[in-house]
Amino acid sequence: MRRLGLLTSGGDASGMNAAIRAVVRKGIHHGFEVWGIKHGFEGLMNGELAKMSLGSVGDIIQKGGTILYTSRSERFKTAEGQAAALEVLASHQIDSLVVIGGDGSFRGALELGKKGINVAGVPGTIDNDIGGTDFTIGFDTAINTVINAVDKIRDTATSHERTYVVEVMGRHAGDIALWAGLADGAESILIPEAAFDLDELVARLKRGIARGKRHSIILVAEGAGSGPEIARQIQDKTGLETRVTILGHIQRGGAPTAFDRVLGSRMGAFAVDLILTNQTGQMTALRHNQLIGVPIEAALQSPRQFDLSLYDLASILAI
Ligand code: F6P
Repeated sequence: MRRLGLLTSGGDASGMNAAIRAVVRKGIHHGFEVWGIKHGFEGLMNGELAKMSLGSVGDIIQKGGTILYTSRSERFKTAEGQAAALEVLASHQIDSLVVIGGDGSFRGALELGKKGINVAGVPGTIDNDIGGTDFTIGFDTAINTVINAVDKIRDTATSHERTYVVEVMGRHAGDIALWAGLADGAESILIPEAAFDLDELVARLKRGIARGKRHSIILVAEGAGSGPEIARQIQDKTGLETRVTILGHIQRGGAPTAFDRVLGSRMGAFAVDLILTNQTGQMTALRHNQLIGVPIEAALQSPRQFDLSLYDLASILAI
């Protein structure tokens, strides 16, 4: 009987549990023994493994986070760390591994792939910043969290006729700010992929006020700049009463949306298909609502293209 290992790594994302459930149940369906590895690559090096059963993944599809826990491991980046991980896999006779995580996690998976482990990646990160796939697990839940928060902020912004800067996650990618900003009708969206001019932003705010706007919402991706600093500059330049909210880690938790539960389930099951057919080094990817396998190496080399048309649309509609 083939043994399949499974871990989650990097920042958690809602819908990872749906993917875990799918890997375990589809794996068992195809005759694998599935071994869950706790705390990502850190736990793999430390031998934190346990055999999973159909029942061990019951009652988790609706939960945020990851029941396998996660970590960002520095030790695993070293040759000594990778050798320790390979030893643990060999001692448990595990020849295949599904890694659920973001780009850092996939780099780790590739290292094990080069050393003979049959690896498959499942993209799970709220940032939606993995090349080759239209969506990553957790993104949809995160933008819905942002939308709910901004809807509430809008109520008080209207009542007080204030300007609000809301900082959202996204170190290198602006998709959370872009999608949530479009869905929220934000006046301006600042993202790392597009340069912005503060004077232009200020002029835009003033134009809005001149045509009767009672408040303004500006969404800032953390990778585009500091929310408090941008709020301070706007207040200085306009004299408008400006407040700032940093949404932070609430964007990473909470019950996954239907979309993330379905995406997690589909991608987890497809990862087992990739392992079954010995397509090592591939990542599950959603393209035009179809699941396909994409070489992890190629996905890492071509960062996800940000959608300029959405950015332009948001700008036109928020005038
Ligand atoms: O996983 C992605 C992410 O949520 C980024 O958007 C954010 O910058 C980062 O993780 C935060 O990481 P940590 O939880 O380790 O502070």
